[in-house]
Amino acid sequence: MSTRGLLDSLSHVLLLSSASPATVQSAAATLYSLLVVDDYRPIIGAKRDIVYALINIIRKENSPPRSIKDALKALFGISLYPLNRTTMIELGVVPALFSLVVNDSRVGVVEDSTAVIAQVAGCDESWGAFQKVSGIGVLVDLLDHETGSSNRARENSVAGLLSLVLSGGHKVVANVQGMGSRALDGIADVAENGSSKGKNKANALLNILNGGSGGFRGPRFDVPQVHSS
Ligand SMILES: *[C@@H]1O[C@H](CO)[C@@H](O)[C@H](O)[C@H]1NC(C)=O
Ligand SMILES: *[C@@H]1O[C@H](CO)[C@@H](O)[C@H](O)[C@H]1NC(C)=O
Ligand SMILES: *[C@@H]1O[C@H](CO)[C@@H](O)[C@H](O)[C@H]1NC(C)=O
Repeated sequence: MSTRGLLDSLSHVLLLSSASPATVQSAAATLYSLLVVDDYRPIIGAKRDIVYALINIIRKENSPPRSIKDALKALFGISLYPLNRTTMIELGVVPALFSLVVNDSRVGVVEDSTAVIAQVAGCDESWGAFQKVSGIGVLVDLLDHETGSSNRARENSVAGLLSLVLSGGHKVVANVQGMGSRALDGIADVAENGSSKGKNKANALLNILNGGSGGFRGPRFDVPQVHSS
């Protein structure tokens, strides 16, 4: 079967309301395995049907946990393409992801959801969508050790806040600053105790929040370059 033909049938299955959980599960798993191959990412991401079907899986209360995990991994792969983030936001990925973070306590779900959140935060449309779900407040909550979040979730939260600040500019900076010392302490903790990637992002974020050298003038001017490796 050609890749296109396969994708058409996968999206058909994913959108079929009568599909059994096992069928949905295997379609989501197939998509995820295709997304591991770089070449297929743009092809899959180009299909709004598929993006929509994946978001539906994470939105539906009765989706089997394995399908949610596979759908999150597939959405992560799609979100690595900046152009796809806008589509994902248009199709409602932000409230679906935050609802998982807030309401789903299953192991790994918060980590995988925040990984996608950190990616989609990096586009022009993200701020509006995040505001509607009090996204900054939720990300700052995750930074607080008291909420029992894992290191991975906390680093994803920092990455998400950094992406939001870089794409949204001043108003987002003011909003994060408005969260007060709880936000700053949490970010400082990642800057000191996180992985090397986490430290870099947390330091970059702290620089911006503290006004950096000469203050924040917008992403293109004085934001330290963060190399992810
Ligand atoms: C996803 O990204 C790819 C590569 O940039 C692009 O070709 C495709 O149109 C995008 N898909 C959507 C639905 O935005
Ligand atoms: C979490 O679940 C409650 C109860 O089902 C619901 O009212 C609330 O809107 C959910 N929160 C999010 C962020 O979706
Ligand atoms: C780093 O971790 C140590 C040990 O848990 C803790 O005492 C310290 O306060 C943390 N650093 C920050 C800046 O929170």
